[in-house]
Amino acid sequence: GFMRELKGIDVMELELKHQLGIKKVIIVPGDSDESPMVKSELGKASAACMKKLFQGENIIAVTGGSTMAAVAEWLSPEASGKELLFVPARGGVGEDVQNQANTICSNMAQNTHSRHRVFYVPDQVSTEIYDSLIKEPGIHEVLELIRSANMVLHGIGDAMTMAERRKTNPDILEKLGNGKAAGEAFGYYFSEAGEIVHKVVTIGLQLEDLEKIQNVIAVAGGTSKAKAIRAYMKQAPPSTIFITDEGAANNLLNQ
Ligand code: G3H
Repeated sequence: GFMRELKGIDVMELELKHQLGIKKVIIVPGDSDESPMVKSELGKASAACMKKLFQGENIIAVTGGSTMAAVAEWLSPEASGKELLFVPARGGVGEDVQNQANTICSNMAQNTHSRHRVFYVPDQVSTEIYDSLIKEPGIHEVLELIRSANMVLHGIGDAMTMAERRKTNPDILEKLGNGKAAGEAFGYYFSEAGEIVHKVVTIGLQLEDLEKIQNVIAVAGGTSKAKAIRAYMKQAPPSTIFITDEGAANNLLNQ
């Protein structure tokens, strides 16, 4: 597009990396809001980035969403000597099956000829249920794997879009509205100032765990997600690699 001629994508990547205070930014041409092809390109760029970071043994924690599903499409088998294990980063967050982390991990394992674990835990559990669930050996084991992940791959969503998609109850919707929730990642809802407005109680990776994980890859594109990305990035660990498109990047840079 026009911006590409005006300012090279490589320049935009550096500017955005400085603006967001993270390790690296990769921008693909186009706007995923306008074309599904661009979301697929985001997936392709993310799969290539992951491949470069894979070591001998890899435990990759993955969240849900259509962007993560696009990454799965582009993963392919690794050379022998590299082991991959995909684990869902958190319990279900009320998504349709094709967008659930369990499904995405299963597809990633299939496409790379590697292994995955499933994590069947309900969304928005009560504190008592939560406390007893984490003592279940099967759940405890997956939790330990998640905590030992050396790579996290996650999406970022527009807060209200995600709340509606997850059929969030009216009380919480009101809380999100009052707190001016803008972005969502890992079941956490953030305001534009980066404050946590709400957190879905679910088992698995928590925001504070990200600091200890070697490679954190965030993937989100489309002009409509710029506000959400800005909100989440206020809390993102500095080690984050962010893969986005021109639509979101132009909007982020022109604010
Ligand atoms: O947490 C963020 C969402 O999973 C993003 O979903 O990739 O379908 O926009 P999406």
